Amino acid sequence: MFSSRLIVDRDFAISELDRRMFGTFVEHMGRCVYTGIYEPGHPTADENGFRQDVLELTRELGPTIVRYPGGNFMSGYNWEDGVGPKDQRPTRLDLAWYSTETNQFGTNEFMQWAKAAHVEPMFGVNLGTRGPDQARHFLEYCNHPGGTTLSELRKEHGVEKPHDIKFWCLGNEMDGPWQICRKTPEEYGRIALETAKVMRSVDPTITLAACGSSMWDMPTYGTWEDTVLEHCFDEVDFISLHTYFQNKYDATEEFFGNIEQTDQFIKEIVAVADGVAARKKSKKRIMLSFDEWNVWYKARSIDDLRKPGWPQAPRLIEEVYNFEDALVNGGALIVMMNNSDRVKTACLAQLVNVIGPIMTEPGGEAWRQTIFYPFAQASRFAHGTVLRPVIESPGYEAKTFPEIPYLCASVVHDENTGQTVIFALNRHLSEDMELKAELRGLGRNRKVVEALELHHTNMKATNTREAPDTVKPAANTHVRLDGDTVLATLKPGSWNVIVIGQQ
Ligand code: AHR
Repeated sequence: MFSSRLIVDRDFAISELDRRMFGTFVEHMGRCVYTGIYEPGHPTADENGFRQDVLELTRELGPTIVRYPGGNFMSGYNWEDGVGPKDQRPTRLDLAWYSTETNQFGTNEFMQWAKAAHVEPMFGVNLGTRGPDQARHFLEYCNHPGGTTLSELRKEHGVEKPHDIKFWCLGNEMDGPWQICRKTPEEYGRIALETAKVMRSVDPTITLAACGSSMWDMPTYGTWEDTVLEHCFDEVDFISLHTYFQNKYDATEEFFGNIEQTDQFIKEIVAVADGVAARKKSKKRIMLSFDEWNVWYKARSIDDLRKPGWPQAPRLIEEVYNFEDALVNGGALIVMMNNSDRVKTACLAQLVNVIGPIMTEPGGEAWRQTIFYPFAQASRFAHGTVLRPVIESPGYEAKTFPEIPYLCASVVHDENTGQTVIFALNRHLSEDMELKAELRGLGRNRKVVEALELHHTNMKATNTREAPDTVKPAANTHVRLDGDTVLATLKPGSWNVIVIGQQ
């Protein structure tokens, strides 16, 4: 047993939490759409072909915003292919994932699904094979009230009222050599600027995100953002960042380095964006859209990424998550919350089957992967203001990051309900942590409303179709309040949520 101290004060806030931080992602890739969220003929499918078992799990997961239609798929997508009568939609080769795309699911189906899932849409435009012209037309089709050919076409397609989609991504990972029609930062910065201008002319109420680096270790990392923002700073609101955590040394203590690295990644992008602001003598601050993040390292071989013969909805990157993956994702959520002054949107990539927290079998069951839980709990419990945590904890040195404190924590306080929630990881792998959390200025006459832990003795434990509940949250009975101080015992290698509220 060892001790760690966490101190927060109501007067010291990082920021109001933007609930769009708890977003996910649906791409036309593998089985995310087809046999994921959409499977006509499935025993639970409704008249639209939406799997109700997946919808229920999605609501339980609690994403607030969902990115669509890609990913890499976006850079070769013709939005027109996915609207109108289904029997007239073209079947195309999807060059991103070497699959056959039937277009039986498209914009209007997604918007219907998003409504049923209670999520806001985050759309992207194709800046790979196409450009500003299709972007303005796509936006006009979606958001213009009526009286033009495209807005009337939407009505003909059964959608009378505009979709009013607010958040738009200007392409996807345009720095990556794998991207269809990749661009240099100069080329992309220019096209992002011009696309943003025409899109804003169509609908001035939209929010726009430019593509940042696909990973923090891209060769152009930093200079990419600098050049891109040099061009489009005035026209965009967000810069995106993506990351997929690797377990490079197959050692949990090293794997945790990803959490610290994510914090550094965010702070570096903020520094670059603010550097551009300084150069432009601008008070404007560009916000961060962490619109792809997750663990992804097991299902990454060429066989996981593409199947021969242009199949429809093949099994691509169906990563099976284990317990340690859930811990790393929990840590990433903590880091994002602690950077909530600049990270305003984020998307766990993806939602179903494709590196998903939810898995399905065609015609069969749906179940929760291990990574489902930290996300679902963060989305359920994190409301209000993120307080600045002061952490005193022993730690260790790793190859992946020079200093890793055993305690990783975030505290969110909701003035409306009076609830304060502690999210904490004990990164010590063999010892209990005695946590002393001082919640200053938040009231003394309170109680522990709920204390939950995610723990398993086997870091490699997984949830499968046959054993879907191997890793799941349980109550932590070793939590009490002493005045304004929470005293808790956190198991070695565990994710914890402690909710403090009014008596
Ligand atoms: O999420 C899987 C893929 O990873 C996305 O399509 C792409 O944007 C990223 O490289």
